[in-house]
Amino acid sequence: TRTQVAIVGAGPAGLLLSHLLHRTGIESIVIDNRGYEQIAGTIRAGILEAGSVRLLVDSGVSDRVLTEGMRHDGVVLRFHGENHRIDFQDLVGESVWLYPQTEVFLDLSARRAADGGDVRYGVTDTVVDIAGARPVVTFTESDGTRVEVAADLLIGADGSRSMCRHAFPAGVRDEWFREYPFAWFGFLVEAPPSHDELIYTRSDFGFALISQRTSTMQRMYFQCRPDERPEDWDDDRIWTEMRKRVNGNGFELAEGPISAKTVLPFRSFVTAPMRHDKLLLAGDAAHTVPPTGAKGLNLALADVAVLAESIADFYGTGDADVLDRYTERALDRVWRAQHFSYWATTMLHTAADASPFDRQRQHGELSMLTGSRHGAAYFAEAYTGWQHPK
Ligand code: DHB
Repeated sequence: TRTQVAIVGAGPAGLLLSHLLHRTGIESIVIDNRGYEQIAGTIRAGILEAGSVRLLVDSGVSDRVLTEGMRHDGVVLRFHGENHRIDFQDLVGESVWLYPQTEVFLDLSARRAADGGDVRYGVTDTVVDIAGARPVVTFTESDGTRVEVAADLLIGADGSRSMCRHAFPAGVRDEWFREYPFAWFGFLVEAPPSHDELIYTRSDFGFALISQRTSTMQRMYFQCRPDERPEDWDDDRIWTEMRKRVNGNGFELAEGPISAKTVLPFRSFVTAPMRHDKLLLAGDAAHTVPPTGAKGLNLALADVAVLAESIADFYGTGDADVLDRYTERALDRVWRAQHFSYWATTMLHTAADASPFDRQRQHGELSMLTGSRHGAAYFAEAYTGWQHPK
């Protein structure tokens, strides 16, 4: 089979790219080794930046984020047992939307299906080959058929363990990464919301995040050791830990039965360039952030907005060199998000080896941030997201 753009990965990045290309008359095939049910059933991120919402709505994916999502005009940073609200609307005139990644996937998948898009879930034995004149991706369909797709361009939107990234020849990529001495323990709670906005908490017992899903289901996280095992934590043990970190001064978490316990990986990673010849990377395949700043999904969508334009330029000019602009344009935002995610993480988490000085200094930092209109605006600008590049 021939196509213009072969896309590996049917998560938000791969599907949005296929959708945006379709709108400019460029055809693509998207494959994923995960089944549709598997992707739809995985709990992922929850917050969309204002620019991500505009991108989904204005490009015609769906309006559901506006009707089903919850607009949040601020966020709470809690420390010393007190809530400090950062008012996004007042400070920078923007909002974010609580709209889980699963819903973004369902919207994109439905839009591609309605527009006749070629998306193949549950393929196996995928092999990518960029040695020839055209990139080739070969895979086995769920019915056993072996398929070979030759494309003008190959896109790796295949997540943090990307096989496409590893198809770059040795020595053409740089990598930067940082590990952290902790992870997040995430879980769902059957209970009403504890608060009407998200609460990011710093406590001497470690970080905790109170997020939401619906009027009856909530999402929460607490800082844990990277080697923690979900099966070692029953509901009582989790609530004991959460109460220590979050409750106090008149605030109490709404508790309920716990499900979907997972330990989340936690690292900062960037590779560049994001293009080699006819192979380009987008989203987690090229960079991952710790989850504290809610940037991962938003960064993937922002990559794709730029990438779709670069690919349209490539077809418009017939010149593959214009694809180099993609790395240049995407990376500025990537490193801003890397810094913000690192900063929010180090400001709110307590390392096991933190000295008493470190802990007091963290309070100074949080107090400076929330007590200053300039500090709070800096946080609000980063959290709600920077303008998409022109
Ligand atoms: C959620 C996840 C995040 O990493 C974050 O920063 C905020 C919210 C969530 O899953 O709801």
